[in-house]
Amino acid sequence: MVRSRRILVCDDDQAVRSSLDFLLTKARYKVSCVSQPEDFVRKIRESDFDLILLDMNFSLSINGEEGIELLQKIKLLEPEIPVILITAWGSVELAVRGIKSGATDFITKPWNNIQLLKIIETSIALSGTIRAPAGNLVNKRGRLPEFQGIIGEDSKLLEIFEIIKRVAPTHAPVLITGESGTGKELIASAIHQCSTRKTSPFIKVNLGGIPANLFESEMFGYKKGAFTDAKSDYTGRFEKAHNGTIFLDEIGDLDPASQVKLLRVLQDQTFERLGDTNSITVDVRILSATNHDLYPMVEKGTFREDLLYRINLIQIEVPPLRQRQKDIALLADYFVNEAIKTYMLPGKIISDESKEWLCDQSWPGNVRELKNIVERTVLLTAGDTIKPEDFCKATGVGRSHDLVKLPKASKAITLNEMERTMIIRTIKECGGNISKSSEILGISRATLYRRMGKYGIQTEKDE
Ligand SMILES: Nc1ncnc2c1ncn2[C@@H]1O[C@H](COP(=O)(O)OP(=O)(O)OP(=O)(O)O)[C@@H](O)[C@H]1O
Ligand SMILES: [Mg+2]
Repeated sequence: MVRSRRILVCDDDQAVRSSLDFLLTKARYKVSCVSQPEDFVRKIRESDFDLILLDMNFSLSINGEEGIELLQKIKLLEPEIPVILITAWGSVELAVRGIKSGATDFITKPWNNIQLLKIIETSIALSGTIRAPAGNLVNKRGRLPEFQGIIGEDSKLLEIFEIIKRVAPTHAPVLITGESGTGKELIASAIHQCSTRKTSPFIKVNLGGIPANLFESEMFGYKKGAFTDAKSDYTGRFEKAHNGTIFLDEIGDLDPASQVKLLRVLQDQTFERLGDTNSITVDVRILSATNHDLYPMVEKGTFREDLLYRINLIQIEVPPLRQRQKDIALLADYFVNEAIKTYMLPGKIISDESKEWLCDQSWPGNVRELKNIVERTVLLTAGDTIKPEDFCKATGVGRSHDLVKLPKASKAITLNEMERTMIIRTIKECGGNISKSSEILGISRATLYRRMGKYGIQTEKDE
């Protein structure tokens, strides 16, 4: 028989204790409640709990210091038991400090029961994950069908597959980070496909592409007549994603006012359509992605810390292609075959010398850049074997020795220097044409301009 999960509730408010006891017992958890911090530690030692719900605002310690101390004590005694903090509305800062001290998640009072049960379920499921031994990594034969469009055998990628398998069935929000073109969107989609939500919608939102003044109407929808142009009701993205997954892409590009609005809906998945006073509650799994490093943005105050902790219960860092050397040839072969199928061309292969050449490149635009270059070369090469010269011709960058090569086993040149050189040479070869250069580099024009700014590169026209 499966043992019921045990939850320990620590709150000095009798009303809170009894309502949590009622809710959790009904959800088939075995509940113990304590009201004093002193009893709490004794209770933890006595019994084998699966999760702890800890109130951060005891009436005797208004500032929550005691709550933080208690949390640190629990983490010393039982580092593996997930702790969920209960904080008063408005004390999110305290919750963030709690998360830094090892809490798994937090809820604010008054909470939404469904949301709380979900957070509990997820935290318990994930704690099992953390406790589980590392186990064997997926090998090619064991690969799930959901991963079949994701090519690669590099150990870092296989580790990502393992994480996806473990977190996909939970409700945990996942933040996917990594450089442009590394495959973040593919990974988000694999998480959805491996989850129980796979038959429900997967709604992708490019947050970098929504102007701040349209954020609410796009995300939450509106009622006919809410504003002059609202000719009919409009269903927002959160509602469209109900029972499924919402993928918040480019979340690092979100403006501060929209960050606040997003945070609110992520707290309890409840919002109102513009022009409507009725609240709508949805059941949505949150996945986010960004190619920015959000931590320095938090330091600088351009990204909200509380929002970061809301979205990154699990973080998946996708390594750049140059750190997955082994996968370059595999991916190139795959893209050649894909291009042949798509354009119905006669068969072609990449020579071994070409594979070496491909592995020598730094790929600032990552897999997307590799895909573009391979596809273009396949289309422009008449023979049945693709040689390094064919790649050079197709990219229009000149002969192979003109290209930036990764100096083998040499640390004389940094990645930044290499990227800078690659950008300068490409722009030069393209006669200063930024659109063409960005296409060759496999990055967007905006990204190219940003990198040019970073490295102080000017085109002849600017000079
Ligand atoms: N491991 C992989 N196997 C096969 N194709 C891949 C892989 N990784 C990325 N790709 C392909 O490379 C392209 C870029 O991938 P994707 O859009 O997922 O990157 P991204 O990290 O979201 O980029 P950006 O930050 O620019 O949005 C897509 O065409 C995708 O199918
Ligand atoms: Mg993307």
